[in-house]
Amino acid sequence: MAVEIAENVHETSESIGELGELAVQLGELICDMKTSGDDSLVTWNSTLGVGVRQIDEQHMVLVELLNSLYAAMKSGQGEAVLSGLLDDLVQYTVYHFDTEEKLMDRYSYPDKPAHRKEHEALKKQVADFVEQFKSGKVPMSNDILHFLKSWVVNHIKRSDKRYGPFFNQKGLV
Ligand SMILES: [Fe+2]
Repeated sequence: MAVEIAENVHETSESIGELGELAVQLGELICDMKTSGDDSLVTWNSTLGVGVRQIDEQHMVLVELLNSLYAAMKSGQGEAVLSGLLDDLVQYTVYHFDTEEKLMDRYSYPDKPAHRKEHEALKKQVADFVEQFKSGKVPMSNDILHFLKSWVVNHIKRSDKRYGPFFNQKGLV
């Protein structure tokens, strides 16, 4: 009996986990649908908030940089303009990740090593793309923009959101 109950509890918690994942996917889908009709690639909304003002403001800048890149591509801007915007995006991303990591150090965030690893991987992915773009090996495309959008949005929703309550508890809002 006890074993059966334990199994049921286990199954229920797995289902809750799956439901949570589905909710995230649904949220992303709705976000995509909302943005497909207008001129922005990403629209800021509360699902992107992590509850720490300084971080939310920096994330908004990242979103704006992505939207500028999208607008530049859509209006047929040349390589020089796109390169400049990509440089801005890379530079700001490095600055922003650094801000997050400094806060994690200051408040001894336990999950910092894994989070930092993710930052390193993201920085490398973007830097690799920028290098390929600048050397003429790959053009700017909708696929690339959607890739950039999903790494920003997914990182915020899946990883950054986890530190929000931790920082809030430490008095950082
Ligand atoms: Fe982060």
